[in-house]
Amino acid sequence: MEVIESVSLMQARSEELRLAGHTLAFVPTMGFLHEGHLELMRVARSLADRVIVSIFVNPTQFGPKEDFAKYPRDREGDLAKVEGVSVDICFLPDVSEMYPRGFQTTVSVRELSGHLCGLSRPGHFDGVTTVVSKLFNITKPHIAVFGQKDYQQLAVISRMVTDTNMGIEIVGVPTVREHDGLAMSSRNAYLNRDERRSALCLKKAMDLAAEMFASGERDAKILKNAMERLIVTHPYTSIDYVAVCDPVTLDDLDKVGEQALVALAVKVGRTRLIDNCLLKARNLSERRDL
Ligand code: PAF
Repeated sequence: MEVIESVSLMQARSEELRLAGHTLAFVPTMGFLHEGHLELMRVARSLADRVIVSIFVNPTQFGPKEDFAKYPRDREGDLAKVEGVSVDICFLPDVSEMYPRGFQTTVSVRELSGHLCGLSRPGHFDGVTTVVSKLFNITKPHIAVFGQKDYQQLAVISRMVTDTNMGIEIVGVPTVREHDGLAMSSRNAYLNRDERRSALCLKKAMDLAAEMFASGERDAKILKNAMERLIVTHPYTSIDYVAVCDPVTLDDLDKVGEQALVALAVKVGRTRLIDNCLLKARNLSERRDL
């Protein structure tokens, strides 16, 4: 596996691979890799001739009171994991090269960035879209792979790619979960044993909403209230948001039609966790299967 740290070397290598006729799939990450990330890399591997992974903890997507400084990092462990899933190139740029003195450009996806996590993390998605567009310009992929666990991020990046004609195919990969249903996340490492137990409330709340929806409940407020009631019975939790919204626009729904996105952000202790699932009317999936 090649390890590249310089922006110009990465750009030159990608250009060379493209000119040689190779297809490039790219997986951007912030490191401290887990099985969810490795799954993205395996999917990337199945879609292209060459797989590029970036590891970069991006300061511009963290708020001033967020966990940038203590975000978990494990360069050597990550390199071994990435190599283990046959990645071709690992790109590890430096903050000072990504954001040199005088840097002043922001890429912003106006509306989609303003919902859900955008409300409680102002500026977060501008940081994500800015760094991802930089990483796309540096690694020049044909395909880029993201996890569906960060549903809003996937929606915002897909919009950015469409709106700015980047010509990159964006692929979303289903959330990988622990044996008990907790969505994999680098931030799970912050949870102590009791918080880890309480963290299951996100999956339980989504399962409850799915059951109620399957039994015919279509009132978004009733679904939301039931999820909130379940979450608050778990110790150490405080709800940031519980939303039942349109999967495309992310606007809140009053009544659920054929499908809805359930999205949750809950603090467990000091750790903010997110998760989501799609509610789909049975007749919708049946029709699609035809
Ligand atoms: O999902 C993440 O890990 C980050 O938001 C990303 C896409 C690597 C941008 O920093």
